[in-house]
Amino acid sequence: MAGIGFMGRVHSFAWKNAASLFGTDDIDLVAVAGGPDDSEEAVRSFARRWGWSTPVYRVQDLIDAPVDVIDVCTPNDSHEFISVAALRAGRHVLCEKPMSNSLGGAERMAAAASAAAERGVHASIGFVYRRVPAVTLAKQLMDQGELGDVLLVSARFLQDVRLDPHRPDTWRASKKVAGSGVIGDLGAHLVDLVAHLTGEMPTMSSTMTAPYPRRGAHDPAVLSSETEDIAVCSGSLASGALVEMRMSRVAVSRKVDLGIDVYGSRGRISFELQRPGELVFVQGADGLQGVVERTILVTERTHPYQEMWWEPGQPVGYGSAHVHQVGDFAAAIRAGRAPTPSFEDGLRVQRVLERMIVDGQG
Ligand SMILES: NC(=O)c1ccc[n+]([C@@H]2O[C@H](COP(=O)([O-])OP(=O)(O)OC[C@H]3O[C@@H](n4cnc5c(N)ncnc54)[C@H](O)[C@@H]3O)[C@@H](O)[C@H]2O)c1
Repeated sequence: MAGIGFMGRVHSFAWKNAASLFGTDDIDLVAVAGGPDDSEEAVRSFARRWGWSTPVYRVQDLIDAPVDVIDVCTPNDSHEFISVAALRAGRHVLCEKPMSNSLGGAERMAAAASAAAERGVHASIGFVYRRVPAVTLAKQLMDQGELGDVLLVSARFLQDVRLDPHRPDTWRASKKVAGSGVIGDLGAHLVDLVAHLTGEMPTMSSTMTAPYPRRGAHDPAVLSSETEDIAVCSGSLASGALVEMRMSRVAVSRKVDLGIDVYGSRGRISFELQRPGELVFVQGADGLQGVVERTILVTERTHPYQEMWWEPGQPVGYGSAHVHQVGDFAAAIRAGRAPTPSFEDGLRVQRVLERMIVDGQG
């Protein structure tokens, strides 16, 4: 695994637990690499804490290590070189979203993945919210036609992480490293969710703003923000359904407020991450029967992924979705199948994001 930050911790948790929960014994946490700003001690202590046998200090050492899979948990500008080098070396790749900090980078990654696939080497992109059990159930209901024709999808992802103008910025505020702001950071998840649930890639336009364009200017050590923090996007699916998305990193009191409503001709589903174990499923009936609304507690043994977890009634959330992600990835690799979503799926999302960014820049 490359990267020992937030995603490094989450993916380590996932790999560590996937073997037990999926009931396999063939996942070994071999080597972990930090970035240029991580001290050797930081990498060593991360490896000790999370159970990686070998801390390494250069990404090349990771690629040369005797591993089957490389998991890319680094900032967006390094996804391309790590993934492409790993695929060329015959390592399967799981890479965090957004696929790259540029459309060109995503195209080169997809081309490398397509060449690797001919040698039986596979790549997948980490759109983890697909694997929250309630979202997986929503997908099953939609695939069964329970909503009828999709008419409107409304999605939001709101946070307040960049609200404090005095808080030092990270690579997320750098256009060069991140590629974009909230659109790549949070919008990537929304575009994937819409595409995954409906089976269609949306065409979107956007308006965006950076409310603190010179944040931190009082302190030269703090970066000025170069990337957008709020975006409001609208568009449609090929079927004619309309799509709206709102995303913000400066929404007061919103922590990880991810939500999606899908309105069909016969029903609606609504999901919000702050209630990860619940899926609202509404069927609009005719005449006297009125509307039938159910909140499904997605914790029954028969629900997606629940068999491996706790007793019914105990919901699982964000960390568990990452366990599902790496467990599904490993199962596909083990079976010689291409894991999903593929780098080609990641590229399709990146094309939508690119259009949103260019459009938002006006
Ligand atoms: N799926 C999700 O829910 C989710 C959530 C947050 C972040 N992400 C994505 O995960 C990726 C990492 O984000 P994060 O929040 O963990 O960032 P972070 O800043 O917390 O951690 C990044 C880590 O990568 C290391 N690094 C930097 N350059 C490197 C290089 N060239 N080689 C090896 N390591 C390098 C850094 O030193 C740090 O250890 C980003 O692409 C981000 O968009 C996904």
